[in-house]
This record gives sequence, structure tokens and C-alpha cells, in this order.
Amino acid sequence: MSHRIRIRMAEADDVDAMHALLLPYSEKKIVLPRSHDDLFEHLQEFVVAEYDGRLAGLAALHVYQSNLAEIRSLVVSDSHQGMGIGRLLVDGCERVATELGLERVFALTYVENFFGQLDYAAVQKETLPHKIWTVCIHCEKFSNCDEVAVEKVLPRSRSGHLPIIEVEQTE
Ligand SMILES: CC(C)(COP(=O)(O)OP(=O)(O)OC[C@H]1O[C@@H](n2cnc3c(N)ncnc32)[C@H](O)[C@@H]1OP(=O)(O)O)[C@@H](O)C(=O)NCCC(=O)NCCS
Repeated sequence: MSHRIRIRMAEADDVDAMHALLLPYSEKKIVLPRSHDDLFEHLQEFVVAEYDGRLAGLAALHVYQSNLAEIRSLVVSDSHQGMGIGRLLVDGCERVATELGLERVFALTYVENFFGQLDYAAVQKETLPHKIWTVCIHCEKFSNCDEVAVEKVLPRSRSGHLPIIEVEQTE
């Protein structure tokens, strides 16, 4: 039997399922909690994974500055882990970052080895700009953060798929 995995940008109808997927991991303090409002406000940042038409994972790409973005809120449902979906979600975020002309992506994570498989290298947190901590201040572990920072330099290979309207006008 074959199964279909699809990585796509999130849509408003996905938010309930996205919230439900994040909840068990935010309760375990593995990712930061995100309310429905927060998910709606940042909907354009999210890629989601469908497994046979049902949402099985998500990740967000948050842009900080001209050359840097963060992969955050990366989760795959318990029952779909180990099927390559996490890798595809990271690939999806990287593809968006590349199309946006960004050079580097980073993550703050407890699964350094997962990111290591995807060519991310550990970096000192101090090398990241101060403004990345504006979200972390809401975390109860802020003063004692035990996550590892990992980072990847992206290849410069835009596909040019980002323009959504192209009109040719003749004078
Ligand atoms: C981490 C997580 C996103 C991985 O998703 P996944 O779909 O299970 O991962 P994949 O199947 O795509 O695995 C890709 C590769 O990473 C490896 N891998 C997966 N999870 C790993 C882990 N926790 N530690 C080390 N390697 C891991 C896999 O073996 C695989 O390697 P391979 O290609 O050589 O076989 C998922 O386990 C998860 O949601 N965990 C809980 C939330 C979390 O920790 N999120 C990360 C926040 S930054």
C-alpha cells in the first residue's frame, strides 16, 4: 500500500489541527506554546505536512534579518515519526528561506542529532542576534536554557517560483 506525503504552506482551515499537533509537545516544554490567535497571526510562516490527506506535522520559518531565519514549532505527530516527515518539513522551510533570499537558518533544539542528519552544525548561542530571545523570554526556562543552537548555510539556488502575479504589458 502506498502513502502520500505532501508538504505545503498552511491555510486558515489548518489552524485547529496545527494547534492540536503542537499541544502535547508544548505541554512537555519541547516547543513553545502557541495559541490559536498566535497561529493565525503567523500563518504565512508555516509549512504543514499531510499524510494521506491528514495533517501530520508542521514547522514555521521566522525571518529575523536579511540573512537569517529560524525554524521553530517543528513537530511531527507521535504516530507519524520516523517516516521522513520531519526532514521534509525542514526541507520545506529551507526552500521558502532560499526563495526569500535568506542565507542562513538556525534552530534552538533538543534534537541536535536530528538536525545533524540534515547538515546543521551546532553553533554558540551568542553568535545569534539578541532579538531572537524576544520570544524566549516567555519561556520558563529562559534564564536556564538547555537547548542547543544549530545552523545551516543555504545554497543560493532560487527557483523563481515566488512571484504570484506576473503581467506582461506592452506600450
Ligand atoms: C524531531 C522530529 C521533528 C523528527 O521528525 P521525524 O519525522 O520523526 O524525523 P524523520 O523521519 O524525518 O527523520 C530524519 C532523520 O533524522 C533522524 N532522526 C529523527 N529523529 C531523531 C532524533 N530525535 N534524534 C536523532 N536523529 C533523529 C532519523 O533517523 C532520520 O535519519 P535517516 O534519514 O538517516 O534515517 C520529531 O521526532 C518530533 O516531532 N519530535 C518532537 C518535537 C521536537 O523535538 N521538535 C523539534 C523542535 S526544534
